[in-house]
Amino acid sequence: MMWRNRFNAAVWCVSVRYLSVNELEVLISREEIAGRVAEIGKQITADSAGEAVIFVGVLKGAAVFLSDLVRQVKLDATFDFIGVASYGNPSEQGKVWDSTGEVRLTKDVDRSLRDKNVILVEDILDTGLTLTFIKRLLLGHQPQSFRVAVLLDKPSRRKLAIQADYVGFTIPDKFVVGYGLDYAEQYRNLPDICVLPDVG
Ligand code: IMP
Repeated sequence: MMWRNRFNAAVWCVSVRYLSVNELEVLISREEIAGRVAEIGKQITADSAGEAVIFVGVLKGAAVFLSDLVRQVKLDATFDFIGVASYGNPSEQGKVWDSTGEVRLTKDVDRSLRDKNVILVEDILDTGLTLTFIKRLLLGHQPQSFRVAVLLDKPSRRKLAIQADYVGFTIPDKFVVGYGLDYAEQYRNLPDICVLPDVG
């Protein structure tokens, strides 16, 4: 399988070299992440006092963030996951991680969200195409309330006007991995958020 990056250079899946942790620049350390996740958990606890909430994580990138976040929330809370995939567009000289706007559901929530207080948990808000698709889909369930928590926000790349209610960190236009975020499925298990050079 071949991708093209923003400089229109061919990138072959099979040729992705795994960079070791000490070759990567740490953008946000595990300590900073833990501190910010605790703050967001506190904020959600205050904003939702007296309510039952359901966190809906977007697979797979949000799994790590969700598992830390829910343990910082002191509420009657449950969680579920949805999966989405972006259709690739080989004719477009797009970036390797760009959504084309054509997003499809690969896993739906297990239970109805009707009349629930839903907090969608996403790893990163980039162009906004994925979140816009998911938001429209989940609002179709007619939840009582709907809010969005994202670990990272790259506002400089936004194509659709959409914002999160809770943002961990606003970051520059760099490709990042770790703490759930991947490049070709690698690096999700890194405890820090690191910049992956030469991707973009
Ligand atoms: P959007 O539809 O462009 O907002 O893309 C959101 C999705 O793109 C995220 O859920 C990630 O899967 C992926 N993504 C965007 N930027 C990055 C990045 O820097 N590292 C890893 N994945 C990214």
